[in-house]
Amino acid sequence: MANLHVVILAAGKGTRMKSALPKVLHHVAGKPMIYYVLQLAEPLKPSSITLVVGHMKEAIRQAMVSRPQVQFAVQEPQLGTGHALLQASGLLEGKSGTLLLLSGDVPLLKRHTLQRLIAHHQDTGAAATVLTTIVPQPYGYGRIVREQGQIARIVEERDASPEERQIAEVNTGVWAFDIAPLFAALRGLAAANAQGEYYLTDLVSTYRRQNRRVEAVVSDEPDQMRGINSRIELAEASRIVRQKKNEELMAAGVTIEDPATTYIDDEVTIGTDTVIHPGVYLEGRTSVGTACEIHSGVRIVNSTLGDRVVIQNYCVINSSRLGSGVILGPFAHLRPDNDLRDSVHIGNFVELKKSTIGAGTKAGHLSYLGDAIVGENVNIGAGTITCNYDGERKHQTTIEDGAFIGSDSQLVAPVTVGRDAYVGSGTTVRENVPAGGLAVSAGKQRNIEGWKAGKKAKVQG
Ligand code: UD1
Ligand code: CA
Repeated sequence: MANLHVVILAAGKGTRMKSALPKVLHHVAGKPMIYYVLQLAEPLKPSSITLVVGHMKEAIRQAMVSRPQVQFAVQEPQLGTGHALLQASGLLEGKSGTLLLLSGDVPLLKRHTLQRLIAHHQDTGAAATVLTTIVPQPYGYGRIVREQGQIARIVEERDASPEERQIAEVNTGVWAFDIAPLFAALRGLAAANAQGEYYLTDLVSTYRRQNRRVEAVVSDEPDQMRGINSRIELAEASRIVRQKKNEELMAAGVTIEDPATTYIDDEVTIGTDTVIHPGVYLEGRTSVGTACEIHSGVRIVNSTLGDRVVIQNYCVINSSRLGSGVILGPFAHLRPDNDLRDSVHIGNFVELKKSTIGAGTKAGHLSYLGDAIVGENVNIGAGTITCNYDGERKHQTTIEDGAFIGSDSQLVAPVTVGRDAYVGSGTTVRENVPAGGLAVSAGKQRNIEGWKAGKKAKVQG
């Protein structure tokens, strides 16, 4: 949108969070709340996006490294929302058009609401247009005081009279401004209020005195407008985002047995006819195919699952790829960077790290495979361990197609087990095994006859 400049306020301390982390970096449903605000602003294609930062500004800058288009205005010290917006004057004063003001702590807004706000603002030619909503519990918000139906001023909770506190229409903290008169008016704000701050909200009465037009757009979706000031409100916002996500997925053909205990991040995708059991966490950029079944207690982070994958209870899967028809768990742990091809079967108490497992291969029980390249249709016996670390460096284990690794074997990397080779149970493989060969390392078995009877005799004697 030409001549649209977005400013996002994020300099405040967020005292009520009681945190060492800046408020806007706290996660709502798995993502920093400021990212929601940016993802709202970016599709509007504004001419600029300015973040007003102050408290812990370096941490916020760090979180913006992947967004080079965001520019910063620094507010130090933090003297209120009016003072915060004034800090953008160096970047925006003298420009023409509309300034859309968002709050870093109001993450649930929807685009259609902003479009309505901007359209109304531009159609009426107002100097300022504030987005308001009616809430059952207006405590803490600035109240909209109207005279003859028109917005006359906004009064903050701490400055409001008992009668004003009854007003249910509140300021959402989202505004559209005509840039031309804005910064001069901000310079004229006073801090004569309970908090000794320069309130942006006082601009309403300033403009009214100057006979400039001030408009209010009322939204009837108060859940979108929630400002997050405390951890309780943070949890509430996460619940709203997750509920919406679950509902979208169910509408698209995914079965979620118990939405209240299913935690699916915003960017996760899931195919139709997949069934998600209670207590499942799907996080980050995870994608799940069609007709999969994910049982209780599973956590999947940044991973891709093909179709008809079954994840049994209590598996943890991180940054891995699982082909179609894979069966995993229960109690399997996939650390980052595994690539499991189609129809792989990984059973209980198996840990994988940075390993490629070929199609049809099975590792049913109690194994560790790290830095391994395993071919197709390999059988990994119970208790197989790749000894990939020599105390200094990691080494690779290669197991070629069709090989059979007997139970309780150790593969001391770097080492290769050739195609169709056998490794006998309890073997410590230190040298390559040729294709089709058999490796055994244990010595010949020795039996001592009558050993138990002899021991008894000793004790009794
Ligand atoms: C503000 C509004 C209130 C509104 C509410 C909606 C004012 C005076 N009050 O109150 O009417 O109902 O939002 O959520 O505008 N910030 C700065 N610098 C500062 C102070 C704040 O950048 O000096 C930023 C904060 O980081 C935050 C936003 O502005 O992102 C709002 O500040 P906050 O202190 O949460 O204001 P509220 O008391 O919620
Ligand atoms: Ca707030």
